[in-house]
Parts: sequence; structure tokens; C-alpha cells
Amino acid sequence: MNAFDALSLVPAHVRDFSPYYPSKPDTLLMRLYGVSRLHRLNNNENALGPPPEVAALLADFPPGSVPVYPNGDCYDLRCVLAEKFHKTGNQFLVGNGSCEVISSVIKALCTKGDNIITADKTFAVYEWVAEFSGIEARLIPLRDHAFDPQAMLDAMDDHTKILFVCNPNNPTGTYWDRATMTDFLNRVDNRAVVVIDEAYFEYVEEADYPDGMDLMETYPNVVVFRTFSKMYALAALRIGYLSAPEPVVELIRRTHIVYSVNTLAQQAAAAVLSNDGTFIAATREMVKTARQRLCALFEKLKLEYVANQGNYVMVRLPVSDTLMYRKLMTHGIMVRTMTGFRFPNWIRISLVQPEVMEPFCEVFSRIVGEIEPVFQPGEAL
Ligand SMILES: Cc1ncc(COP(=O)(O)O)c(C=O)c1O
Repeated sequence: MNAFDALSLVPAHVRDFSPYYPSKPDTLLMRLYGVSRLHRLNNNENALGPPPEVAALLADFPPGSVPVYPNGDCYDLRCVLAEKFHKTGNQFLVGNGSCEVISSVIKALCTKGDNIITADKTFAVYEWVAEFSGIEARLIPLRDHAFDPQAMLDAMDDHTKILFVCNPNNPTGTYWDRATMTDFLNRVDNRAVVVIDEAYFEYVEEADYPDGMDLMETYPNVVVFRTFSKMYALAALRIGYLSAPEPVVELIRRTHIVYSVNTLAQQAAAAVLSNDGTFIAATREMVKTARQRLCALFEKLKLEYVANQGNYVMVRLPVSDTLMYRKLMTHGIMVRTMTGFRFPNWIRISLVQPEVMEPFCEVFSRIVGEIEPVFQPGEAL
């Protein structure tokens, strides 16, 4: 019998792709670091959530529903979304997290030789899906921590199929205002699809922040991503969606896995949309207070930081980010190291309640005071 050589069966773009390993389960991490609880400041989850509407739904979920497949294309939820956003149900495609719809869009539009364009320091899944699918990802450097519209336009060619704009950007929190976004869309001029990822939409209160749901009424090439993982605190249920003009959704639907979203997630998503707005208001207040607290701390410690929109801030450390991660973990505080996101020796911190921000500030200041700085503030890395 031949020896089985799995590697020889795999295309080069899969062979060359380095897999991403998510963090270990909380219980294992707690054991490793000898702590009895863990404050998760690493994934931009909403520590206040979920909204109260979800508790009743979870408590009353009938076991008899479990053997039954969910609705395969989230029909009821799409009706709720249609009503909320004054669109048709066929303008929505719901996925197992918005990560799944990223994959559906790339599969629907791109073939070998095509490219997608996005930033070098943004949510990495656009780049990863393109690359492990054999599609070129053109990564445009951020300019002043923001997406650079001119450089993205300059990178376009006849094979560019999708431009991904993360608005506001994860991890820098910068956003394109309405004028910048419409100017960009005018200049793309329908040559490619523009995906506006609005994962943190509900956190932004700025008057000049553009709403992709409105833009798609004028620009037929706009696709908007939203998620229930961030503001609505349903991350464990994995549910997000895209919205676009009907003809575009009709095409993307062809490469989208049906039945990927479970019944509980579909029902919980519909339930959170019925909240009267008090949950969003309370979350925004929590985030604002936490952001002010961290900015004041970083000013005091004379550390460079980036604090804009969204429920997260970044700070540049005088030491390695993995060392800081490990030291914080011994106090039960988990942050996101950013070297892998092309921000060497920065960390990103999710903004949560004062009861957690205060211990973070205390422990972080102590560590910064105790450890010998390896990098000076402002020193090129
Ligand atoms: C910008 C951005 N888009 C999409 C996602 C994916 O969200 P989901 O949980 O819906 O897959 C995230 C999650 O961190 C994100 O930050």
C-alpha cells in the first residue's frame, strides 16, 4: 500500500498558511496561572450582557426543540431584521458569527488570480480567509491608525473583487466619517464590492459616523456586516449577518452554508433586538467611564495609547506584550497581546465595569513600575 501523504494532497496556499490557535479554555488557563477567576478583557465582549430579554428565553427553551433542525435560513430573524431596518428579508444573510459571512462573500466573488484589499492592521479574518482560499490579500498600511482610502484605491486593479473597510476599525477604533466613506464609494465607482464591517456599530455615537444600512440604498455594491457578539453580548451563541441589496445577497447566498445557525441563537438575536434601548445606553455609559479611566492611567504612566470608538483601547508597553500578558494572568486578568496583529508589544484591553477596570489599573501600574523597561516611550520597534 502507498504511504499516505496528506501534505501532497493540499494546495500550496493551504500548505503555506499558518493556522491561528485560539486561546485555551478559561478553566485550563485558571489552573495554569493558579487563579480562581478570570476577567476576560481580551475579546471585546460585553461584560454587562446579555440584555434581560435573553434570560427568559434561555430558561424556557424547550428540550423538545433540541432534536429539531433550526430554520435553515433564519427566516423569522430575517423578518425581524427587515422590519427594524426597513428592508426586505431577502436583503439579509445570517451566519454562524459574522466570521462565517466573510467566508461566504469571498467564496462567492473570488477565484484564483483575484484579489481583495484591506488594511494591514485590522480584523485579520478577511486576510486569512482570502489567503487560505488562494486569493491574494493586498494589505494597505494604516495612516494615523486609520484606513487609508487613497492607498486602497491605488491598490485596485481589474482583479480586485472586494474592499473590506472595518468601520470603526478593530483594534484602533478609528472610523471614516460620512464624507470620507461616500467619496471612497464614488471613486470605487461600482468596480468592486465594498464590505463595511460594522461589528462595533452600536458603540459609535458620533454624528458624522455613516450608517452602511443607508449607504447601500445609494450604492448597489455595498455589503454591511453586523454581529450580535459585541454590543448584544451573544458571543457564545455565534450569530452575525450581512445586509446588501437583494441581487448581491442572492449571489452570496449560493456559497453560504445553510442550517449553520442554531435555533437558540436565532431566537436570542430576535429577542435582543426588541430591547427598548436601555441596554445599549447602559453599555455605552460603562464603556465611556472605562475609557476615561484607562486614558487617565496611561497619561499618568506616560505610555502611548490609542483610544477611539468601540469597547476597547490599545496601549504600547515598555516591555514585551507576552510578558505583560503572563504577569496580568497571574492576577486573573486576560488581555489581548497585539504582536500578532502587527502592533509589536502593544496590548488591547476591553472596556468593562469599574469593578474590573480598577483591579486592572492597579495591577498594570504595579507591573509597569516593577519591571525594567526594554523599550523607551516612542522608541522605534
Ligand atoms: C471587526 C470585527 N468583525 C467581525 C468580528 C467577528 O464577529 P463574530 O463573533 O460575529 O464572528 C469581529 C470579532 O472580533 C470583529 O472585531
